[in-house]
Amino acid sequence: MRRKFICGNWKMYKTRAEALAFAEQIKPLLTGDLPADVAVAVPYTQIWALTEAFAGTPMGVGAQNVHFADEGAYTGEVSVPMLKETGVSCCIVGHSERRQYFAETDETVNKKLRKLFADSSIRPILCVSETLEERAAGAQEEIVRRQLEKDLEGLDADMVSRLVIAYEPIWAIGMGRTASPEQAQEMCACIRSLIASLYDAPTAGRVIIQYGGSVKPVNAGEILSMPDIDGALVGGASLKPDDFMKIVDSLKIQ
Ligand code: PGA
Repeated sequence: MRRKFICGNWKMYKTRAEALAFAEQIKPLLTGDLPADVAVAVPYTQIWALTEAFAGTPMGVGAQNVHFADEGAYTGEVSVPMLKETGVSCCIVGHSERRQYFAETDETVNKKLRKLFADSSIRPILCVSETLEERAAGAQEEIVRRQLEKDLEGLDADMVSRLVIAYEPIWAIGMGRTASPEQAQEMCACIRSLIASLYDAPTAGRVIIQYGGSVKPVNAGEILSMPDIDGALVGGASLKPDDFMKIVDSLKIQ
């Protein structure tokens, strides 16, 4: 049985004071048995304050990117050993915004995944997606298959069993436009069967597949009830404690 996983992606939002205010507001809501694992992937500068603020609570803290080298002349980058010190539990890799604006390629994504698995227990959240044009051309499955084949090169079944894959159609991110639950299910099922063919059925049965792209309290219940959707990567709605918890709580009524 796969446990659902709801992860917020704050992107480049929230100062330290705003991040701590979020923590204070959401902590009282993190009581009882939560129906999912929960985490927020936050800007690097807020990680230390938040791992401390969320210590002893179920809320994990994640990073939004990492470099594949241990150290070196890579201005502006942060390494896996540096992340390990902070106590993050997960790290987004290959988000479409990084691929689009910061020249992230399948090759660098693959190096980052290998590094995270080789040297840490930080859980990677690998993002894959297609553009609006690619979907209009009916090429979404082909595009995502090609990304996954390259991104996962050299990873073994044990690693992939611990991986989170987020299907995040670019046309649905931050647009207020969501894939229909059926479209999201179709792609998540396609990703799972691809993992079965690249690895094996037990690995495909274990890998967590999230949907991301304008997930909100109003649509979360339907999306998360789909059989191959094991959670969500939530951007805009994860900035508000109430909205984030409404998304998590939508799992209770299923
Ligand atoms: P959104 O972002 O929920 O604001 O669409 C999702 C993401 O980019 O991870």
